[in-house]
Amino acid sequence: MEVIIVPAAQDVGIAAAGILSRLVAGKPGAVLGLATGASVERVYAKLVLAHQAHALDFSRVTTFNLDEYVGLSPSHPASFHAFMEERFLGRVQIDRRRVHFPPTDGDDLAGACEKFERDIRAAGGIDLQLLGIGRDGHLGFNEPTSSLASRTRIKTLTSATRDANRAGFGEEGVPLHVVTMGIGTILEARHCLLVADGTAKADAVARMVEGPLTAMVPASALQMHPHATVIVDDAAAAKLSLLEYYREVQRNKPDWQR
Ligand code: GLP
Repeated sequence: MEVIIVPAAQDVGIAAAGILSRLVAGKPGAVLGLATGASVERVYAKLVLAHQAHALDFSRVTTFNLDEYVGLSPSHPASFHAFMEERFLGRVQIDRRRVHFPPTDGDDLAGACEKFERDIRAAGGIDLQLLGIGRDGHLGFNEPTSSLASRTRIKTLTSATRDANRAGFGEEGVPLHVVTMGIGTILEARHCLLVADGTAKADAVARMVEGPLTAMVPASALQMHPHATVIVDDAAAAKLSLLEYYREVQRNKPDWQR
């Protein structure tokens, strides 16, 4: 796992968007796995800027989002559809036929989840999966004790996650059920790029990078991934015991590894 530590949340967005931009510039038909949440919001803002200022072309890109709430209309302001539309999809001239979200309604949700997995494979697999991390170490909506081999399926949220995601929901509260790519699905992406910022994520980041591989911290599964990059700001890096080592690795990174 490569750990890149930058001073502030804004730098996390710049660094992650740089990696995504280089991928799309070099491979215009790239397949991107996308995430939602405050941590990735800055990444999308920088990508939109790259589109507007440097004509970064997303028209041939294919996207698969990580997760969505079951039974929530895509037009609900707190849906991940709405988040993506507002922050990214609606601003970069993407071809809608190549935009995919996990299924969240219909009589055969399990069958639709299998189709979502087949669609990923048919697109050639995900080149880069963008990820945030929950305070409990969840990836996508794979809550603690999710199978590390899981595929796209329905999950039940913990009350802590529902509480963390309550913005935008009114009296009705956060839905209990979601559909999320599984950990096994995420691990098949050729490159996993996780971003985190702020002190509230410091514990989860330390447990993901340096803790034992355990379903209690689903993000620790990234330790098994051959190409995982974690970009964090100083605050989110604060509890890493090898902090100075990660900085030294970055300072001395040879050209061939860039
Ligand atoms: C939600 C999303 C995750 C995201 C997490 C952290 O639970 N399903 O994909 O990583 O929130 O979000 P934030 O970046 O807002 O802290």
